[in-house]
Amino acid sequence: MDRGAVHQDIPAPLRLFDLSGRVAVVTGASSGLGAGLARALAAVGASVAVVARRRDRLAGLADELGGLAVGCDLLDADQLDTVVPQVLDKLGPPEILVNAAGNRFNQDRAEDESAASVAQTLTLNLVAPLRLSQAVFPHMRAAGRGSIVNVSSISGQVGIPGIPQASYAASKGGLSGLTSELAVQWARHAIRVNTVAPGFFRSEITDGLYDDERGRAWLRRNTPLAHEGGVEDFVAPVLWLVSDAGRYVTGQTIVVDGGWTAR
Ligand SMILES: NC(=O)c1ccc[n+]([C@@H]2O[C@H](COP(=O)([O-])OP(=O)(O)OC[C@H]3O[C@@H](n4cnc5c(N)ncnc54)[C@H](OP(=O)(O)O)[C@@H]3O)[C@@H](O)[C@H]2O)c1
Repeated sequence: MDRGAVHQDIPAPLRLFDLSGRVAVVTGASSGLGAGLARALAAVGASVAVVARRRDRLAGLADELGGLAVGCDLLDADQLDTVVPQVLDKLGPPEILVNAAGNRFNQDRAEDESAASVAQTLTLNLVAPLRLSQAVFPHMRAAGRGSIVNVSSISGQVGIPGIPQASYAASKGGLSGLTSELAVQWARHAIRVNTVAPGFFRSEITDGLYDDERGRAWLRRNTPLAHEGGVEDFVAPVLWLVSDAGRYVTGQTIVVDGGWTAR
């Protein structure tokens, strides 16, 4: 299809969202928010590398999108170091990085969290995004543009009563600090760095809450907007941030939570 012809039909402000010709790396793309985002990035023209541990799922998604599956345990520094070279080799230099992989490794109260679990949480949720940002940096600098989005959580902004998660909250709050610092250091290369902080969305991490009627009632009671957040509600602000539509936005943490933290 002639892309020029398609472009004629798209109003100029929406063309800012076009990612044709750009290579994007999405971690945590084997499920949930990351998988939804990978599909959306491909739909607006990006070549997408999907990164996570479950290679079977990634292979199916990469086939669907015409992208690249990169199996990697981001807790393993040696494996992490191979991600960007693989993307460079197969798709070309990455201009978009979305750090969506994340996990909560225990449900202990703060006073009981083990040192090992704290370290694991920080390694996956905070150190891996920094290391991957370092790895894409030279390619973005050479391209003269780039956009990095870190996926944090409202737990990085406020305490959530009833869900103990001290190290998770620390890791997610840390992403906002990392975001401001990288944004300032790398602005002169036109590399933008932002964080999206989701509220509650149904995924493998939160299934238990959504499966339980009391959990759903608690979510409804605490979320000002009446409708349940869907993947598309998370995806849209990320598309804004990674595309030219967001080209004057950097160093920010954008909260997408149906108003949870506005109360
Ligand atoms: N859903 C929510 O309500 C919510 C709220 C706030 C923040 N978040 C954040 O949003 C992001 C996406 O979460 P989600 O809700 O979509 O949950 P999810 O469906 O459980 O997705 C987590 C993703 O991270 C990947 N991952 C986990 N450990 C990994 C590792 N060691 N190495 C590589 N990849 C790893 C998982 O893939 P593999 O298992 O295949 O490795 C999976 O693709 C996370 O950072 C989460 O903290 C979610």
